[in-house]
Amino acid sequence: MTSITDSFKELTILQPDDWHIHLRDDKALATTVPHAAGSFNRVICMPNLVPPVKTADDARAYRERILQYLQASNLSAERQAAFDPRMTLYLTDHTTAQDIEAAAKSGIVQAVKLYPAGATTNSADGVTDINACADVFEAMEKYNLPLLLHGEVTHDHVDIFDREKRFLDDVLVQIITNFPTLQIVMEHITTRDAADFVLAQGNQIAATITPQHLMFNRNHLLLGGIKPHFYCLPILKRATHQKALLEVATSGSPKFFLGTDSAPHTTDKKEAACGCAGCYSSATALPLYATAFDSVGKIDKLEGFTSRFGAQFYGLPVNENTVTLINIPMQVPVNYPYFDGSTLTPLMAGEMLPWSIKG
Ligand code: DOR
Ligand code: ZN
Repeated sequence: MTSITDSFKELTILQPDDWHIHLRDDKALATTVPHAAGSFNRVICMPNLVPPVKTADDARAYRERILQYLQASNLSAERQAAFDPRMTLYLTDHTTAQDIEAAAKSGIVQAVKLYPAGATTNSADGVTDINACADVFEAMEKYNLPLLLHGEVTHDHVDIFDREKRFLDDVLVQIITNFPTLQIVMEHITTRDAADFVLAQGNQIAATITPQHLMFNRNHLLLGGIKPHFYCLPILKRATHQKALLEVATSGSPKFFLGTDSAPHTTDKKEAACGCAGCYSSATALPLYATAFDSVGKIDKLEGFTSRFGAQFYGLPVNENTVTLINIPMQVPVNYPYFDGSTLTPLMAGEMLPWSIKG
């Protein structure tokens, strides 16, 4: 239903969904929930809380907390009614097939997330040995619960820029071979290797792509001084990889869809000697993606990526409401107030984007 006016000044698309977001918990939700619900109908909420979301009951309780903050927000009744947080379980060495069955029957758990232990923020409880997960993967196949992967190996000796490629070769191939009907999403892919790998597989394998991996590469992170607000995991790669990601995202292939990986870390924890990993983008995600697609002349391919392919992958209907982007420039806020006097500095803070949301 993409409709572009003759002058290419406005673009009306079905309301997007975010298939990978970090909302965090408690007071953080006062900021993250209105930002997410302002842009998206459905969001897949990552489970890497402290402690993690490990069972269907944890997921149910977390969803209730999210909805309480939604109701307390200033969002319109229409946006509140449209917002549908879909939950994930955090796979640990102790997750059982019964946990998976309960999650599948809960009606609110959309997928199961695998963090290799130590791969990223709050991943200490992640999986240490995927060979021990066979019963759980079988149950996921049986109940059609997709596996979402943070696709990086974590061995100390593997270079940070090689960790995604090594995961494809050493881990993902094995999972796909052993569980051929398991639906899998390679989350936040960052390399041509991952894009090519996903393209070469059947329709049960897909990938999400973040705005930062479409718009930036490691030069943006490291040249002329370290820019901590570009630091996320998996880390930004070379420009050739960025180009490959833009190619597949804008190709019209239904295997690639929107997942912001928007992750709130306070400004002081990003701008630190040992800064946290994560880019905060959810409030401006649509203008960011529009800018990325427009940069390669493919704005007409935006709607499939933002609003159709993810729903198709998850077997859900596409949204019925729409949003209009207009190419009137907007300035990304310098920061957002967060809780207890802290702030969040978003991706591209203070910079101009050529696209904004109409109204
Ligand atoms: O940069 C990241 N931040 N990557 C992840 O995988 C996790 C996320 C977070 O939770 O902060
Ligand atoms: Zn994430």
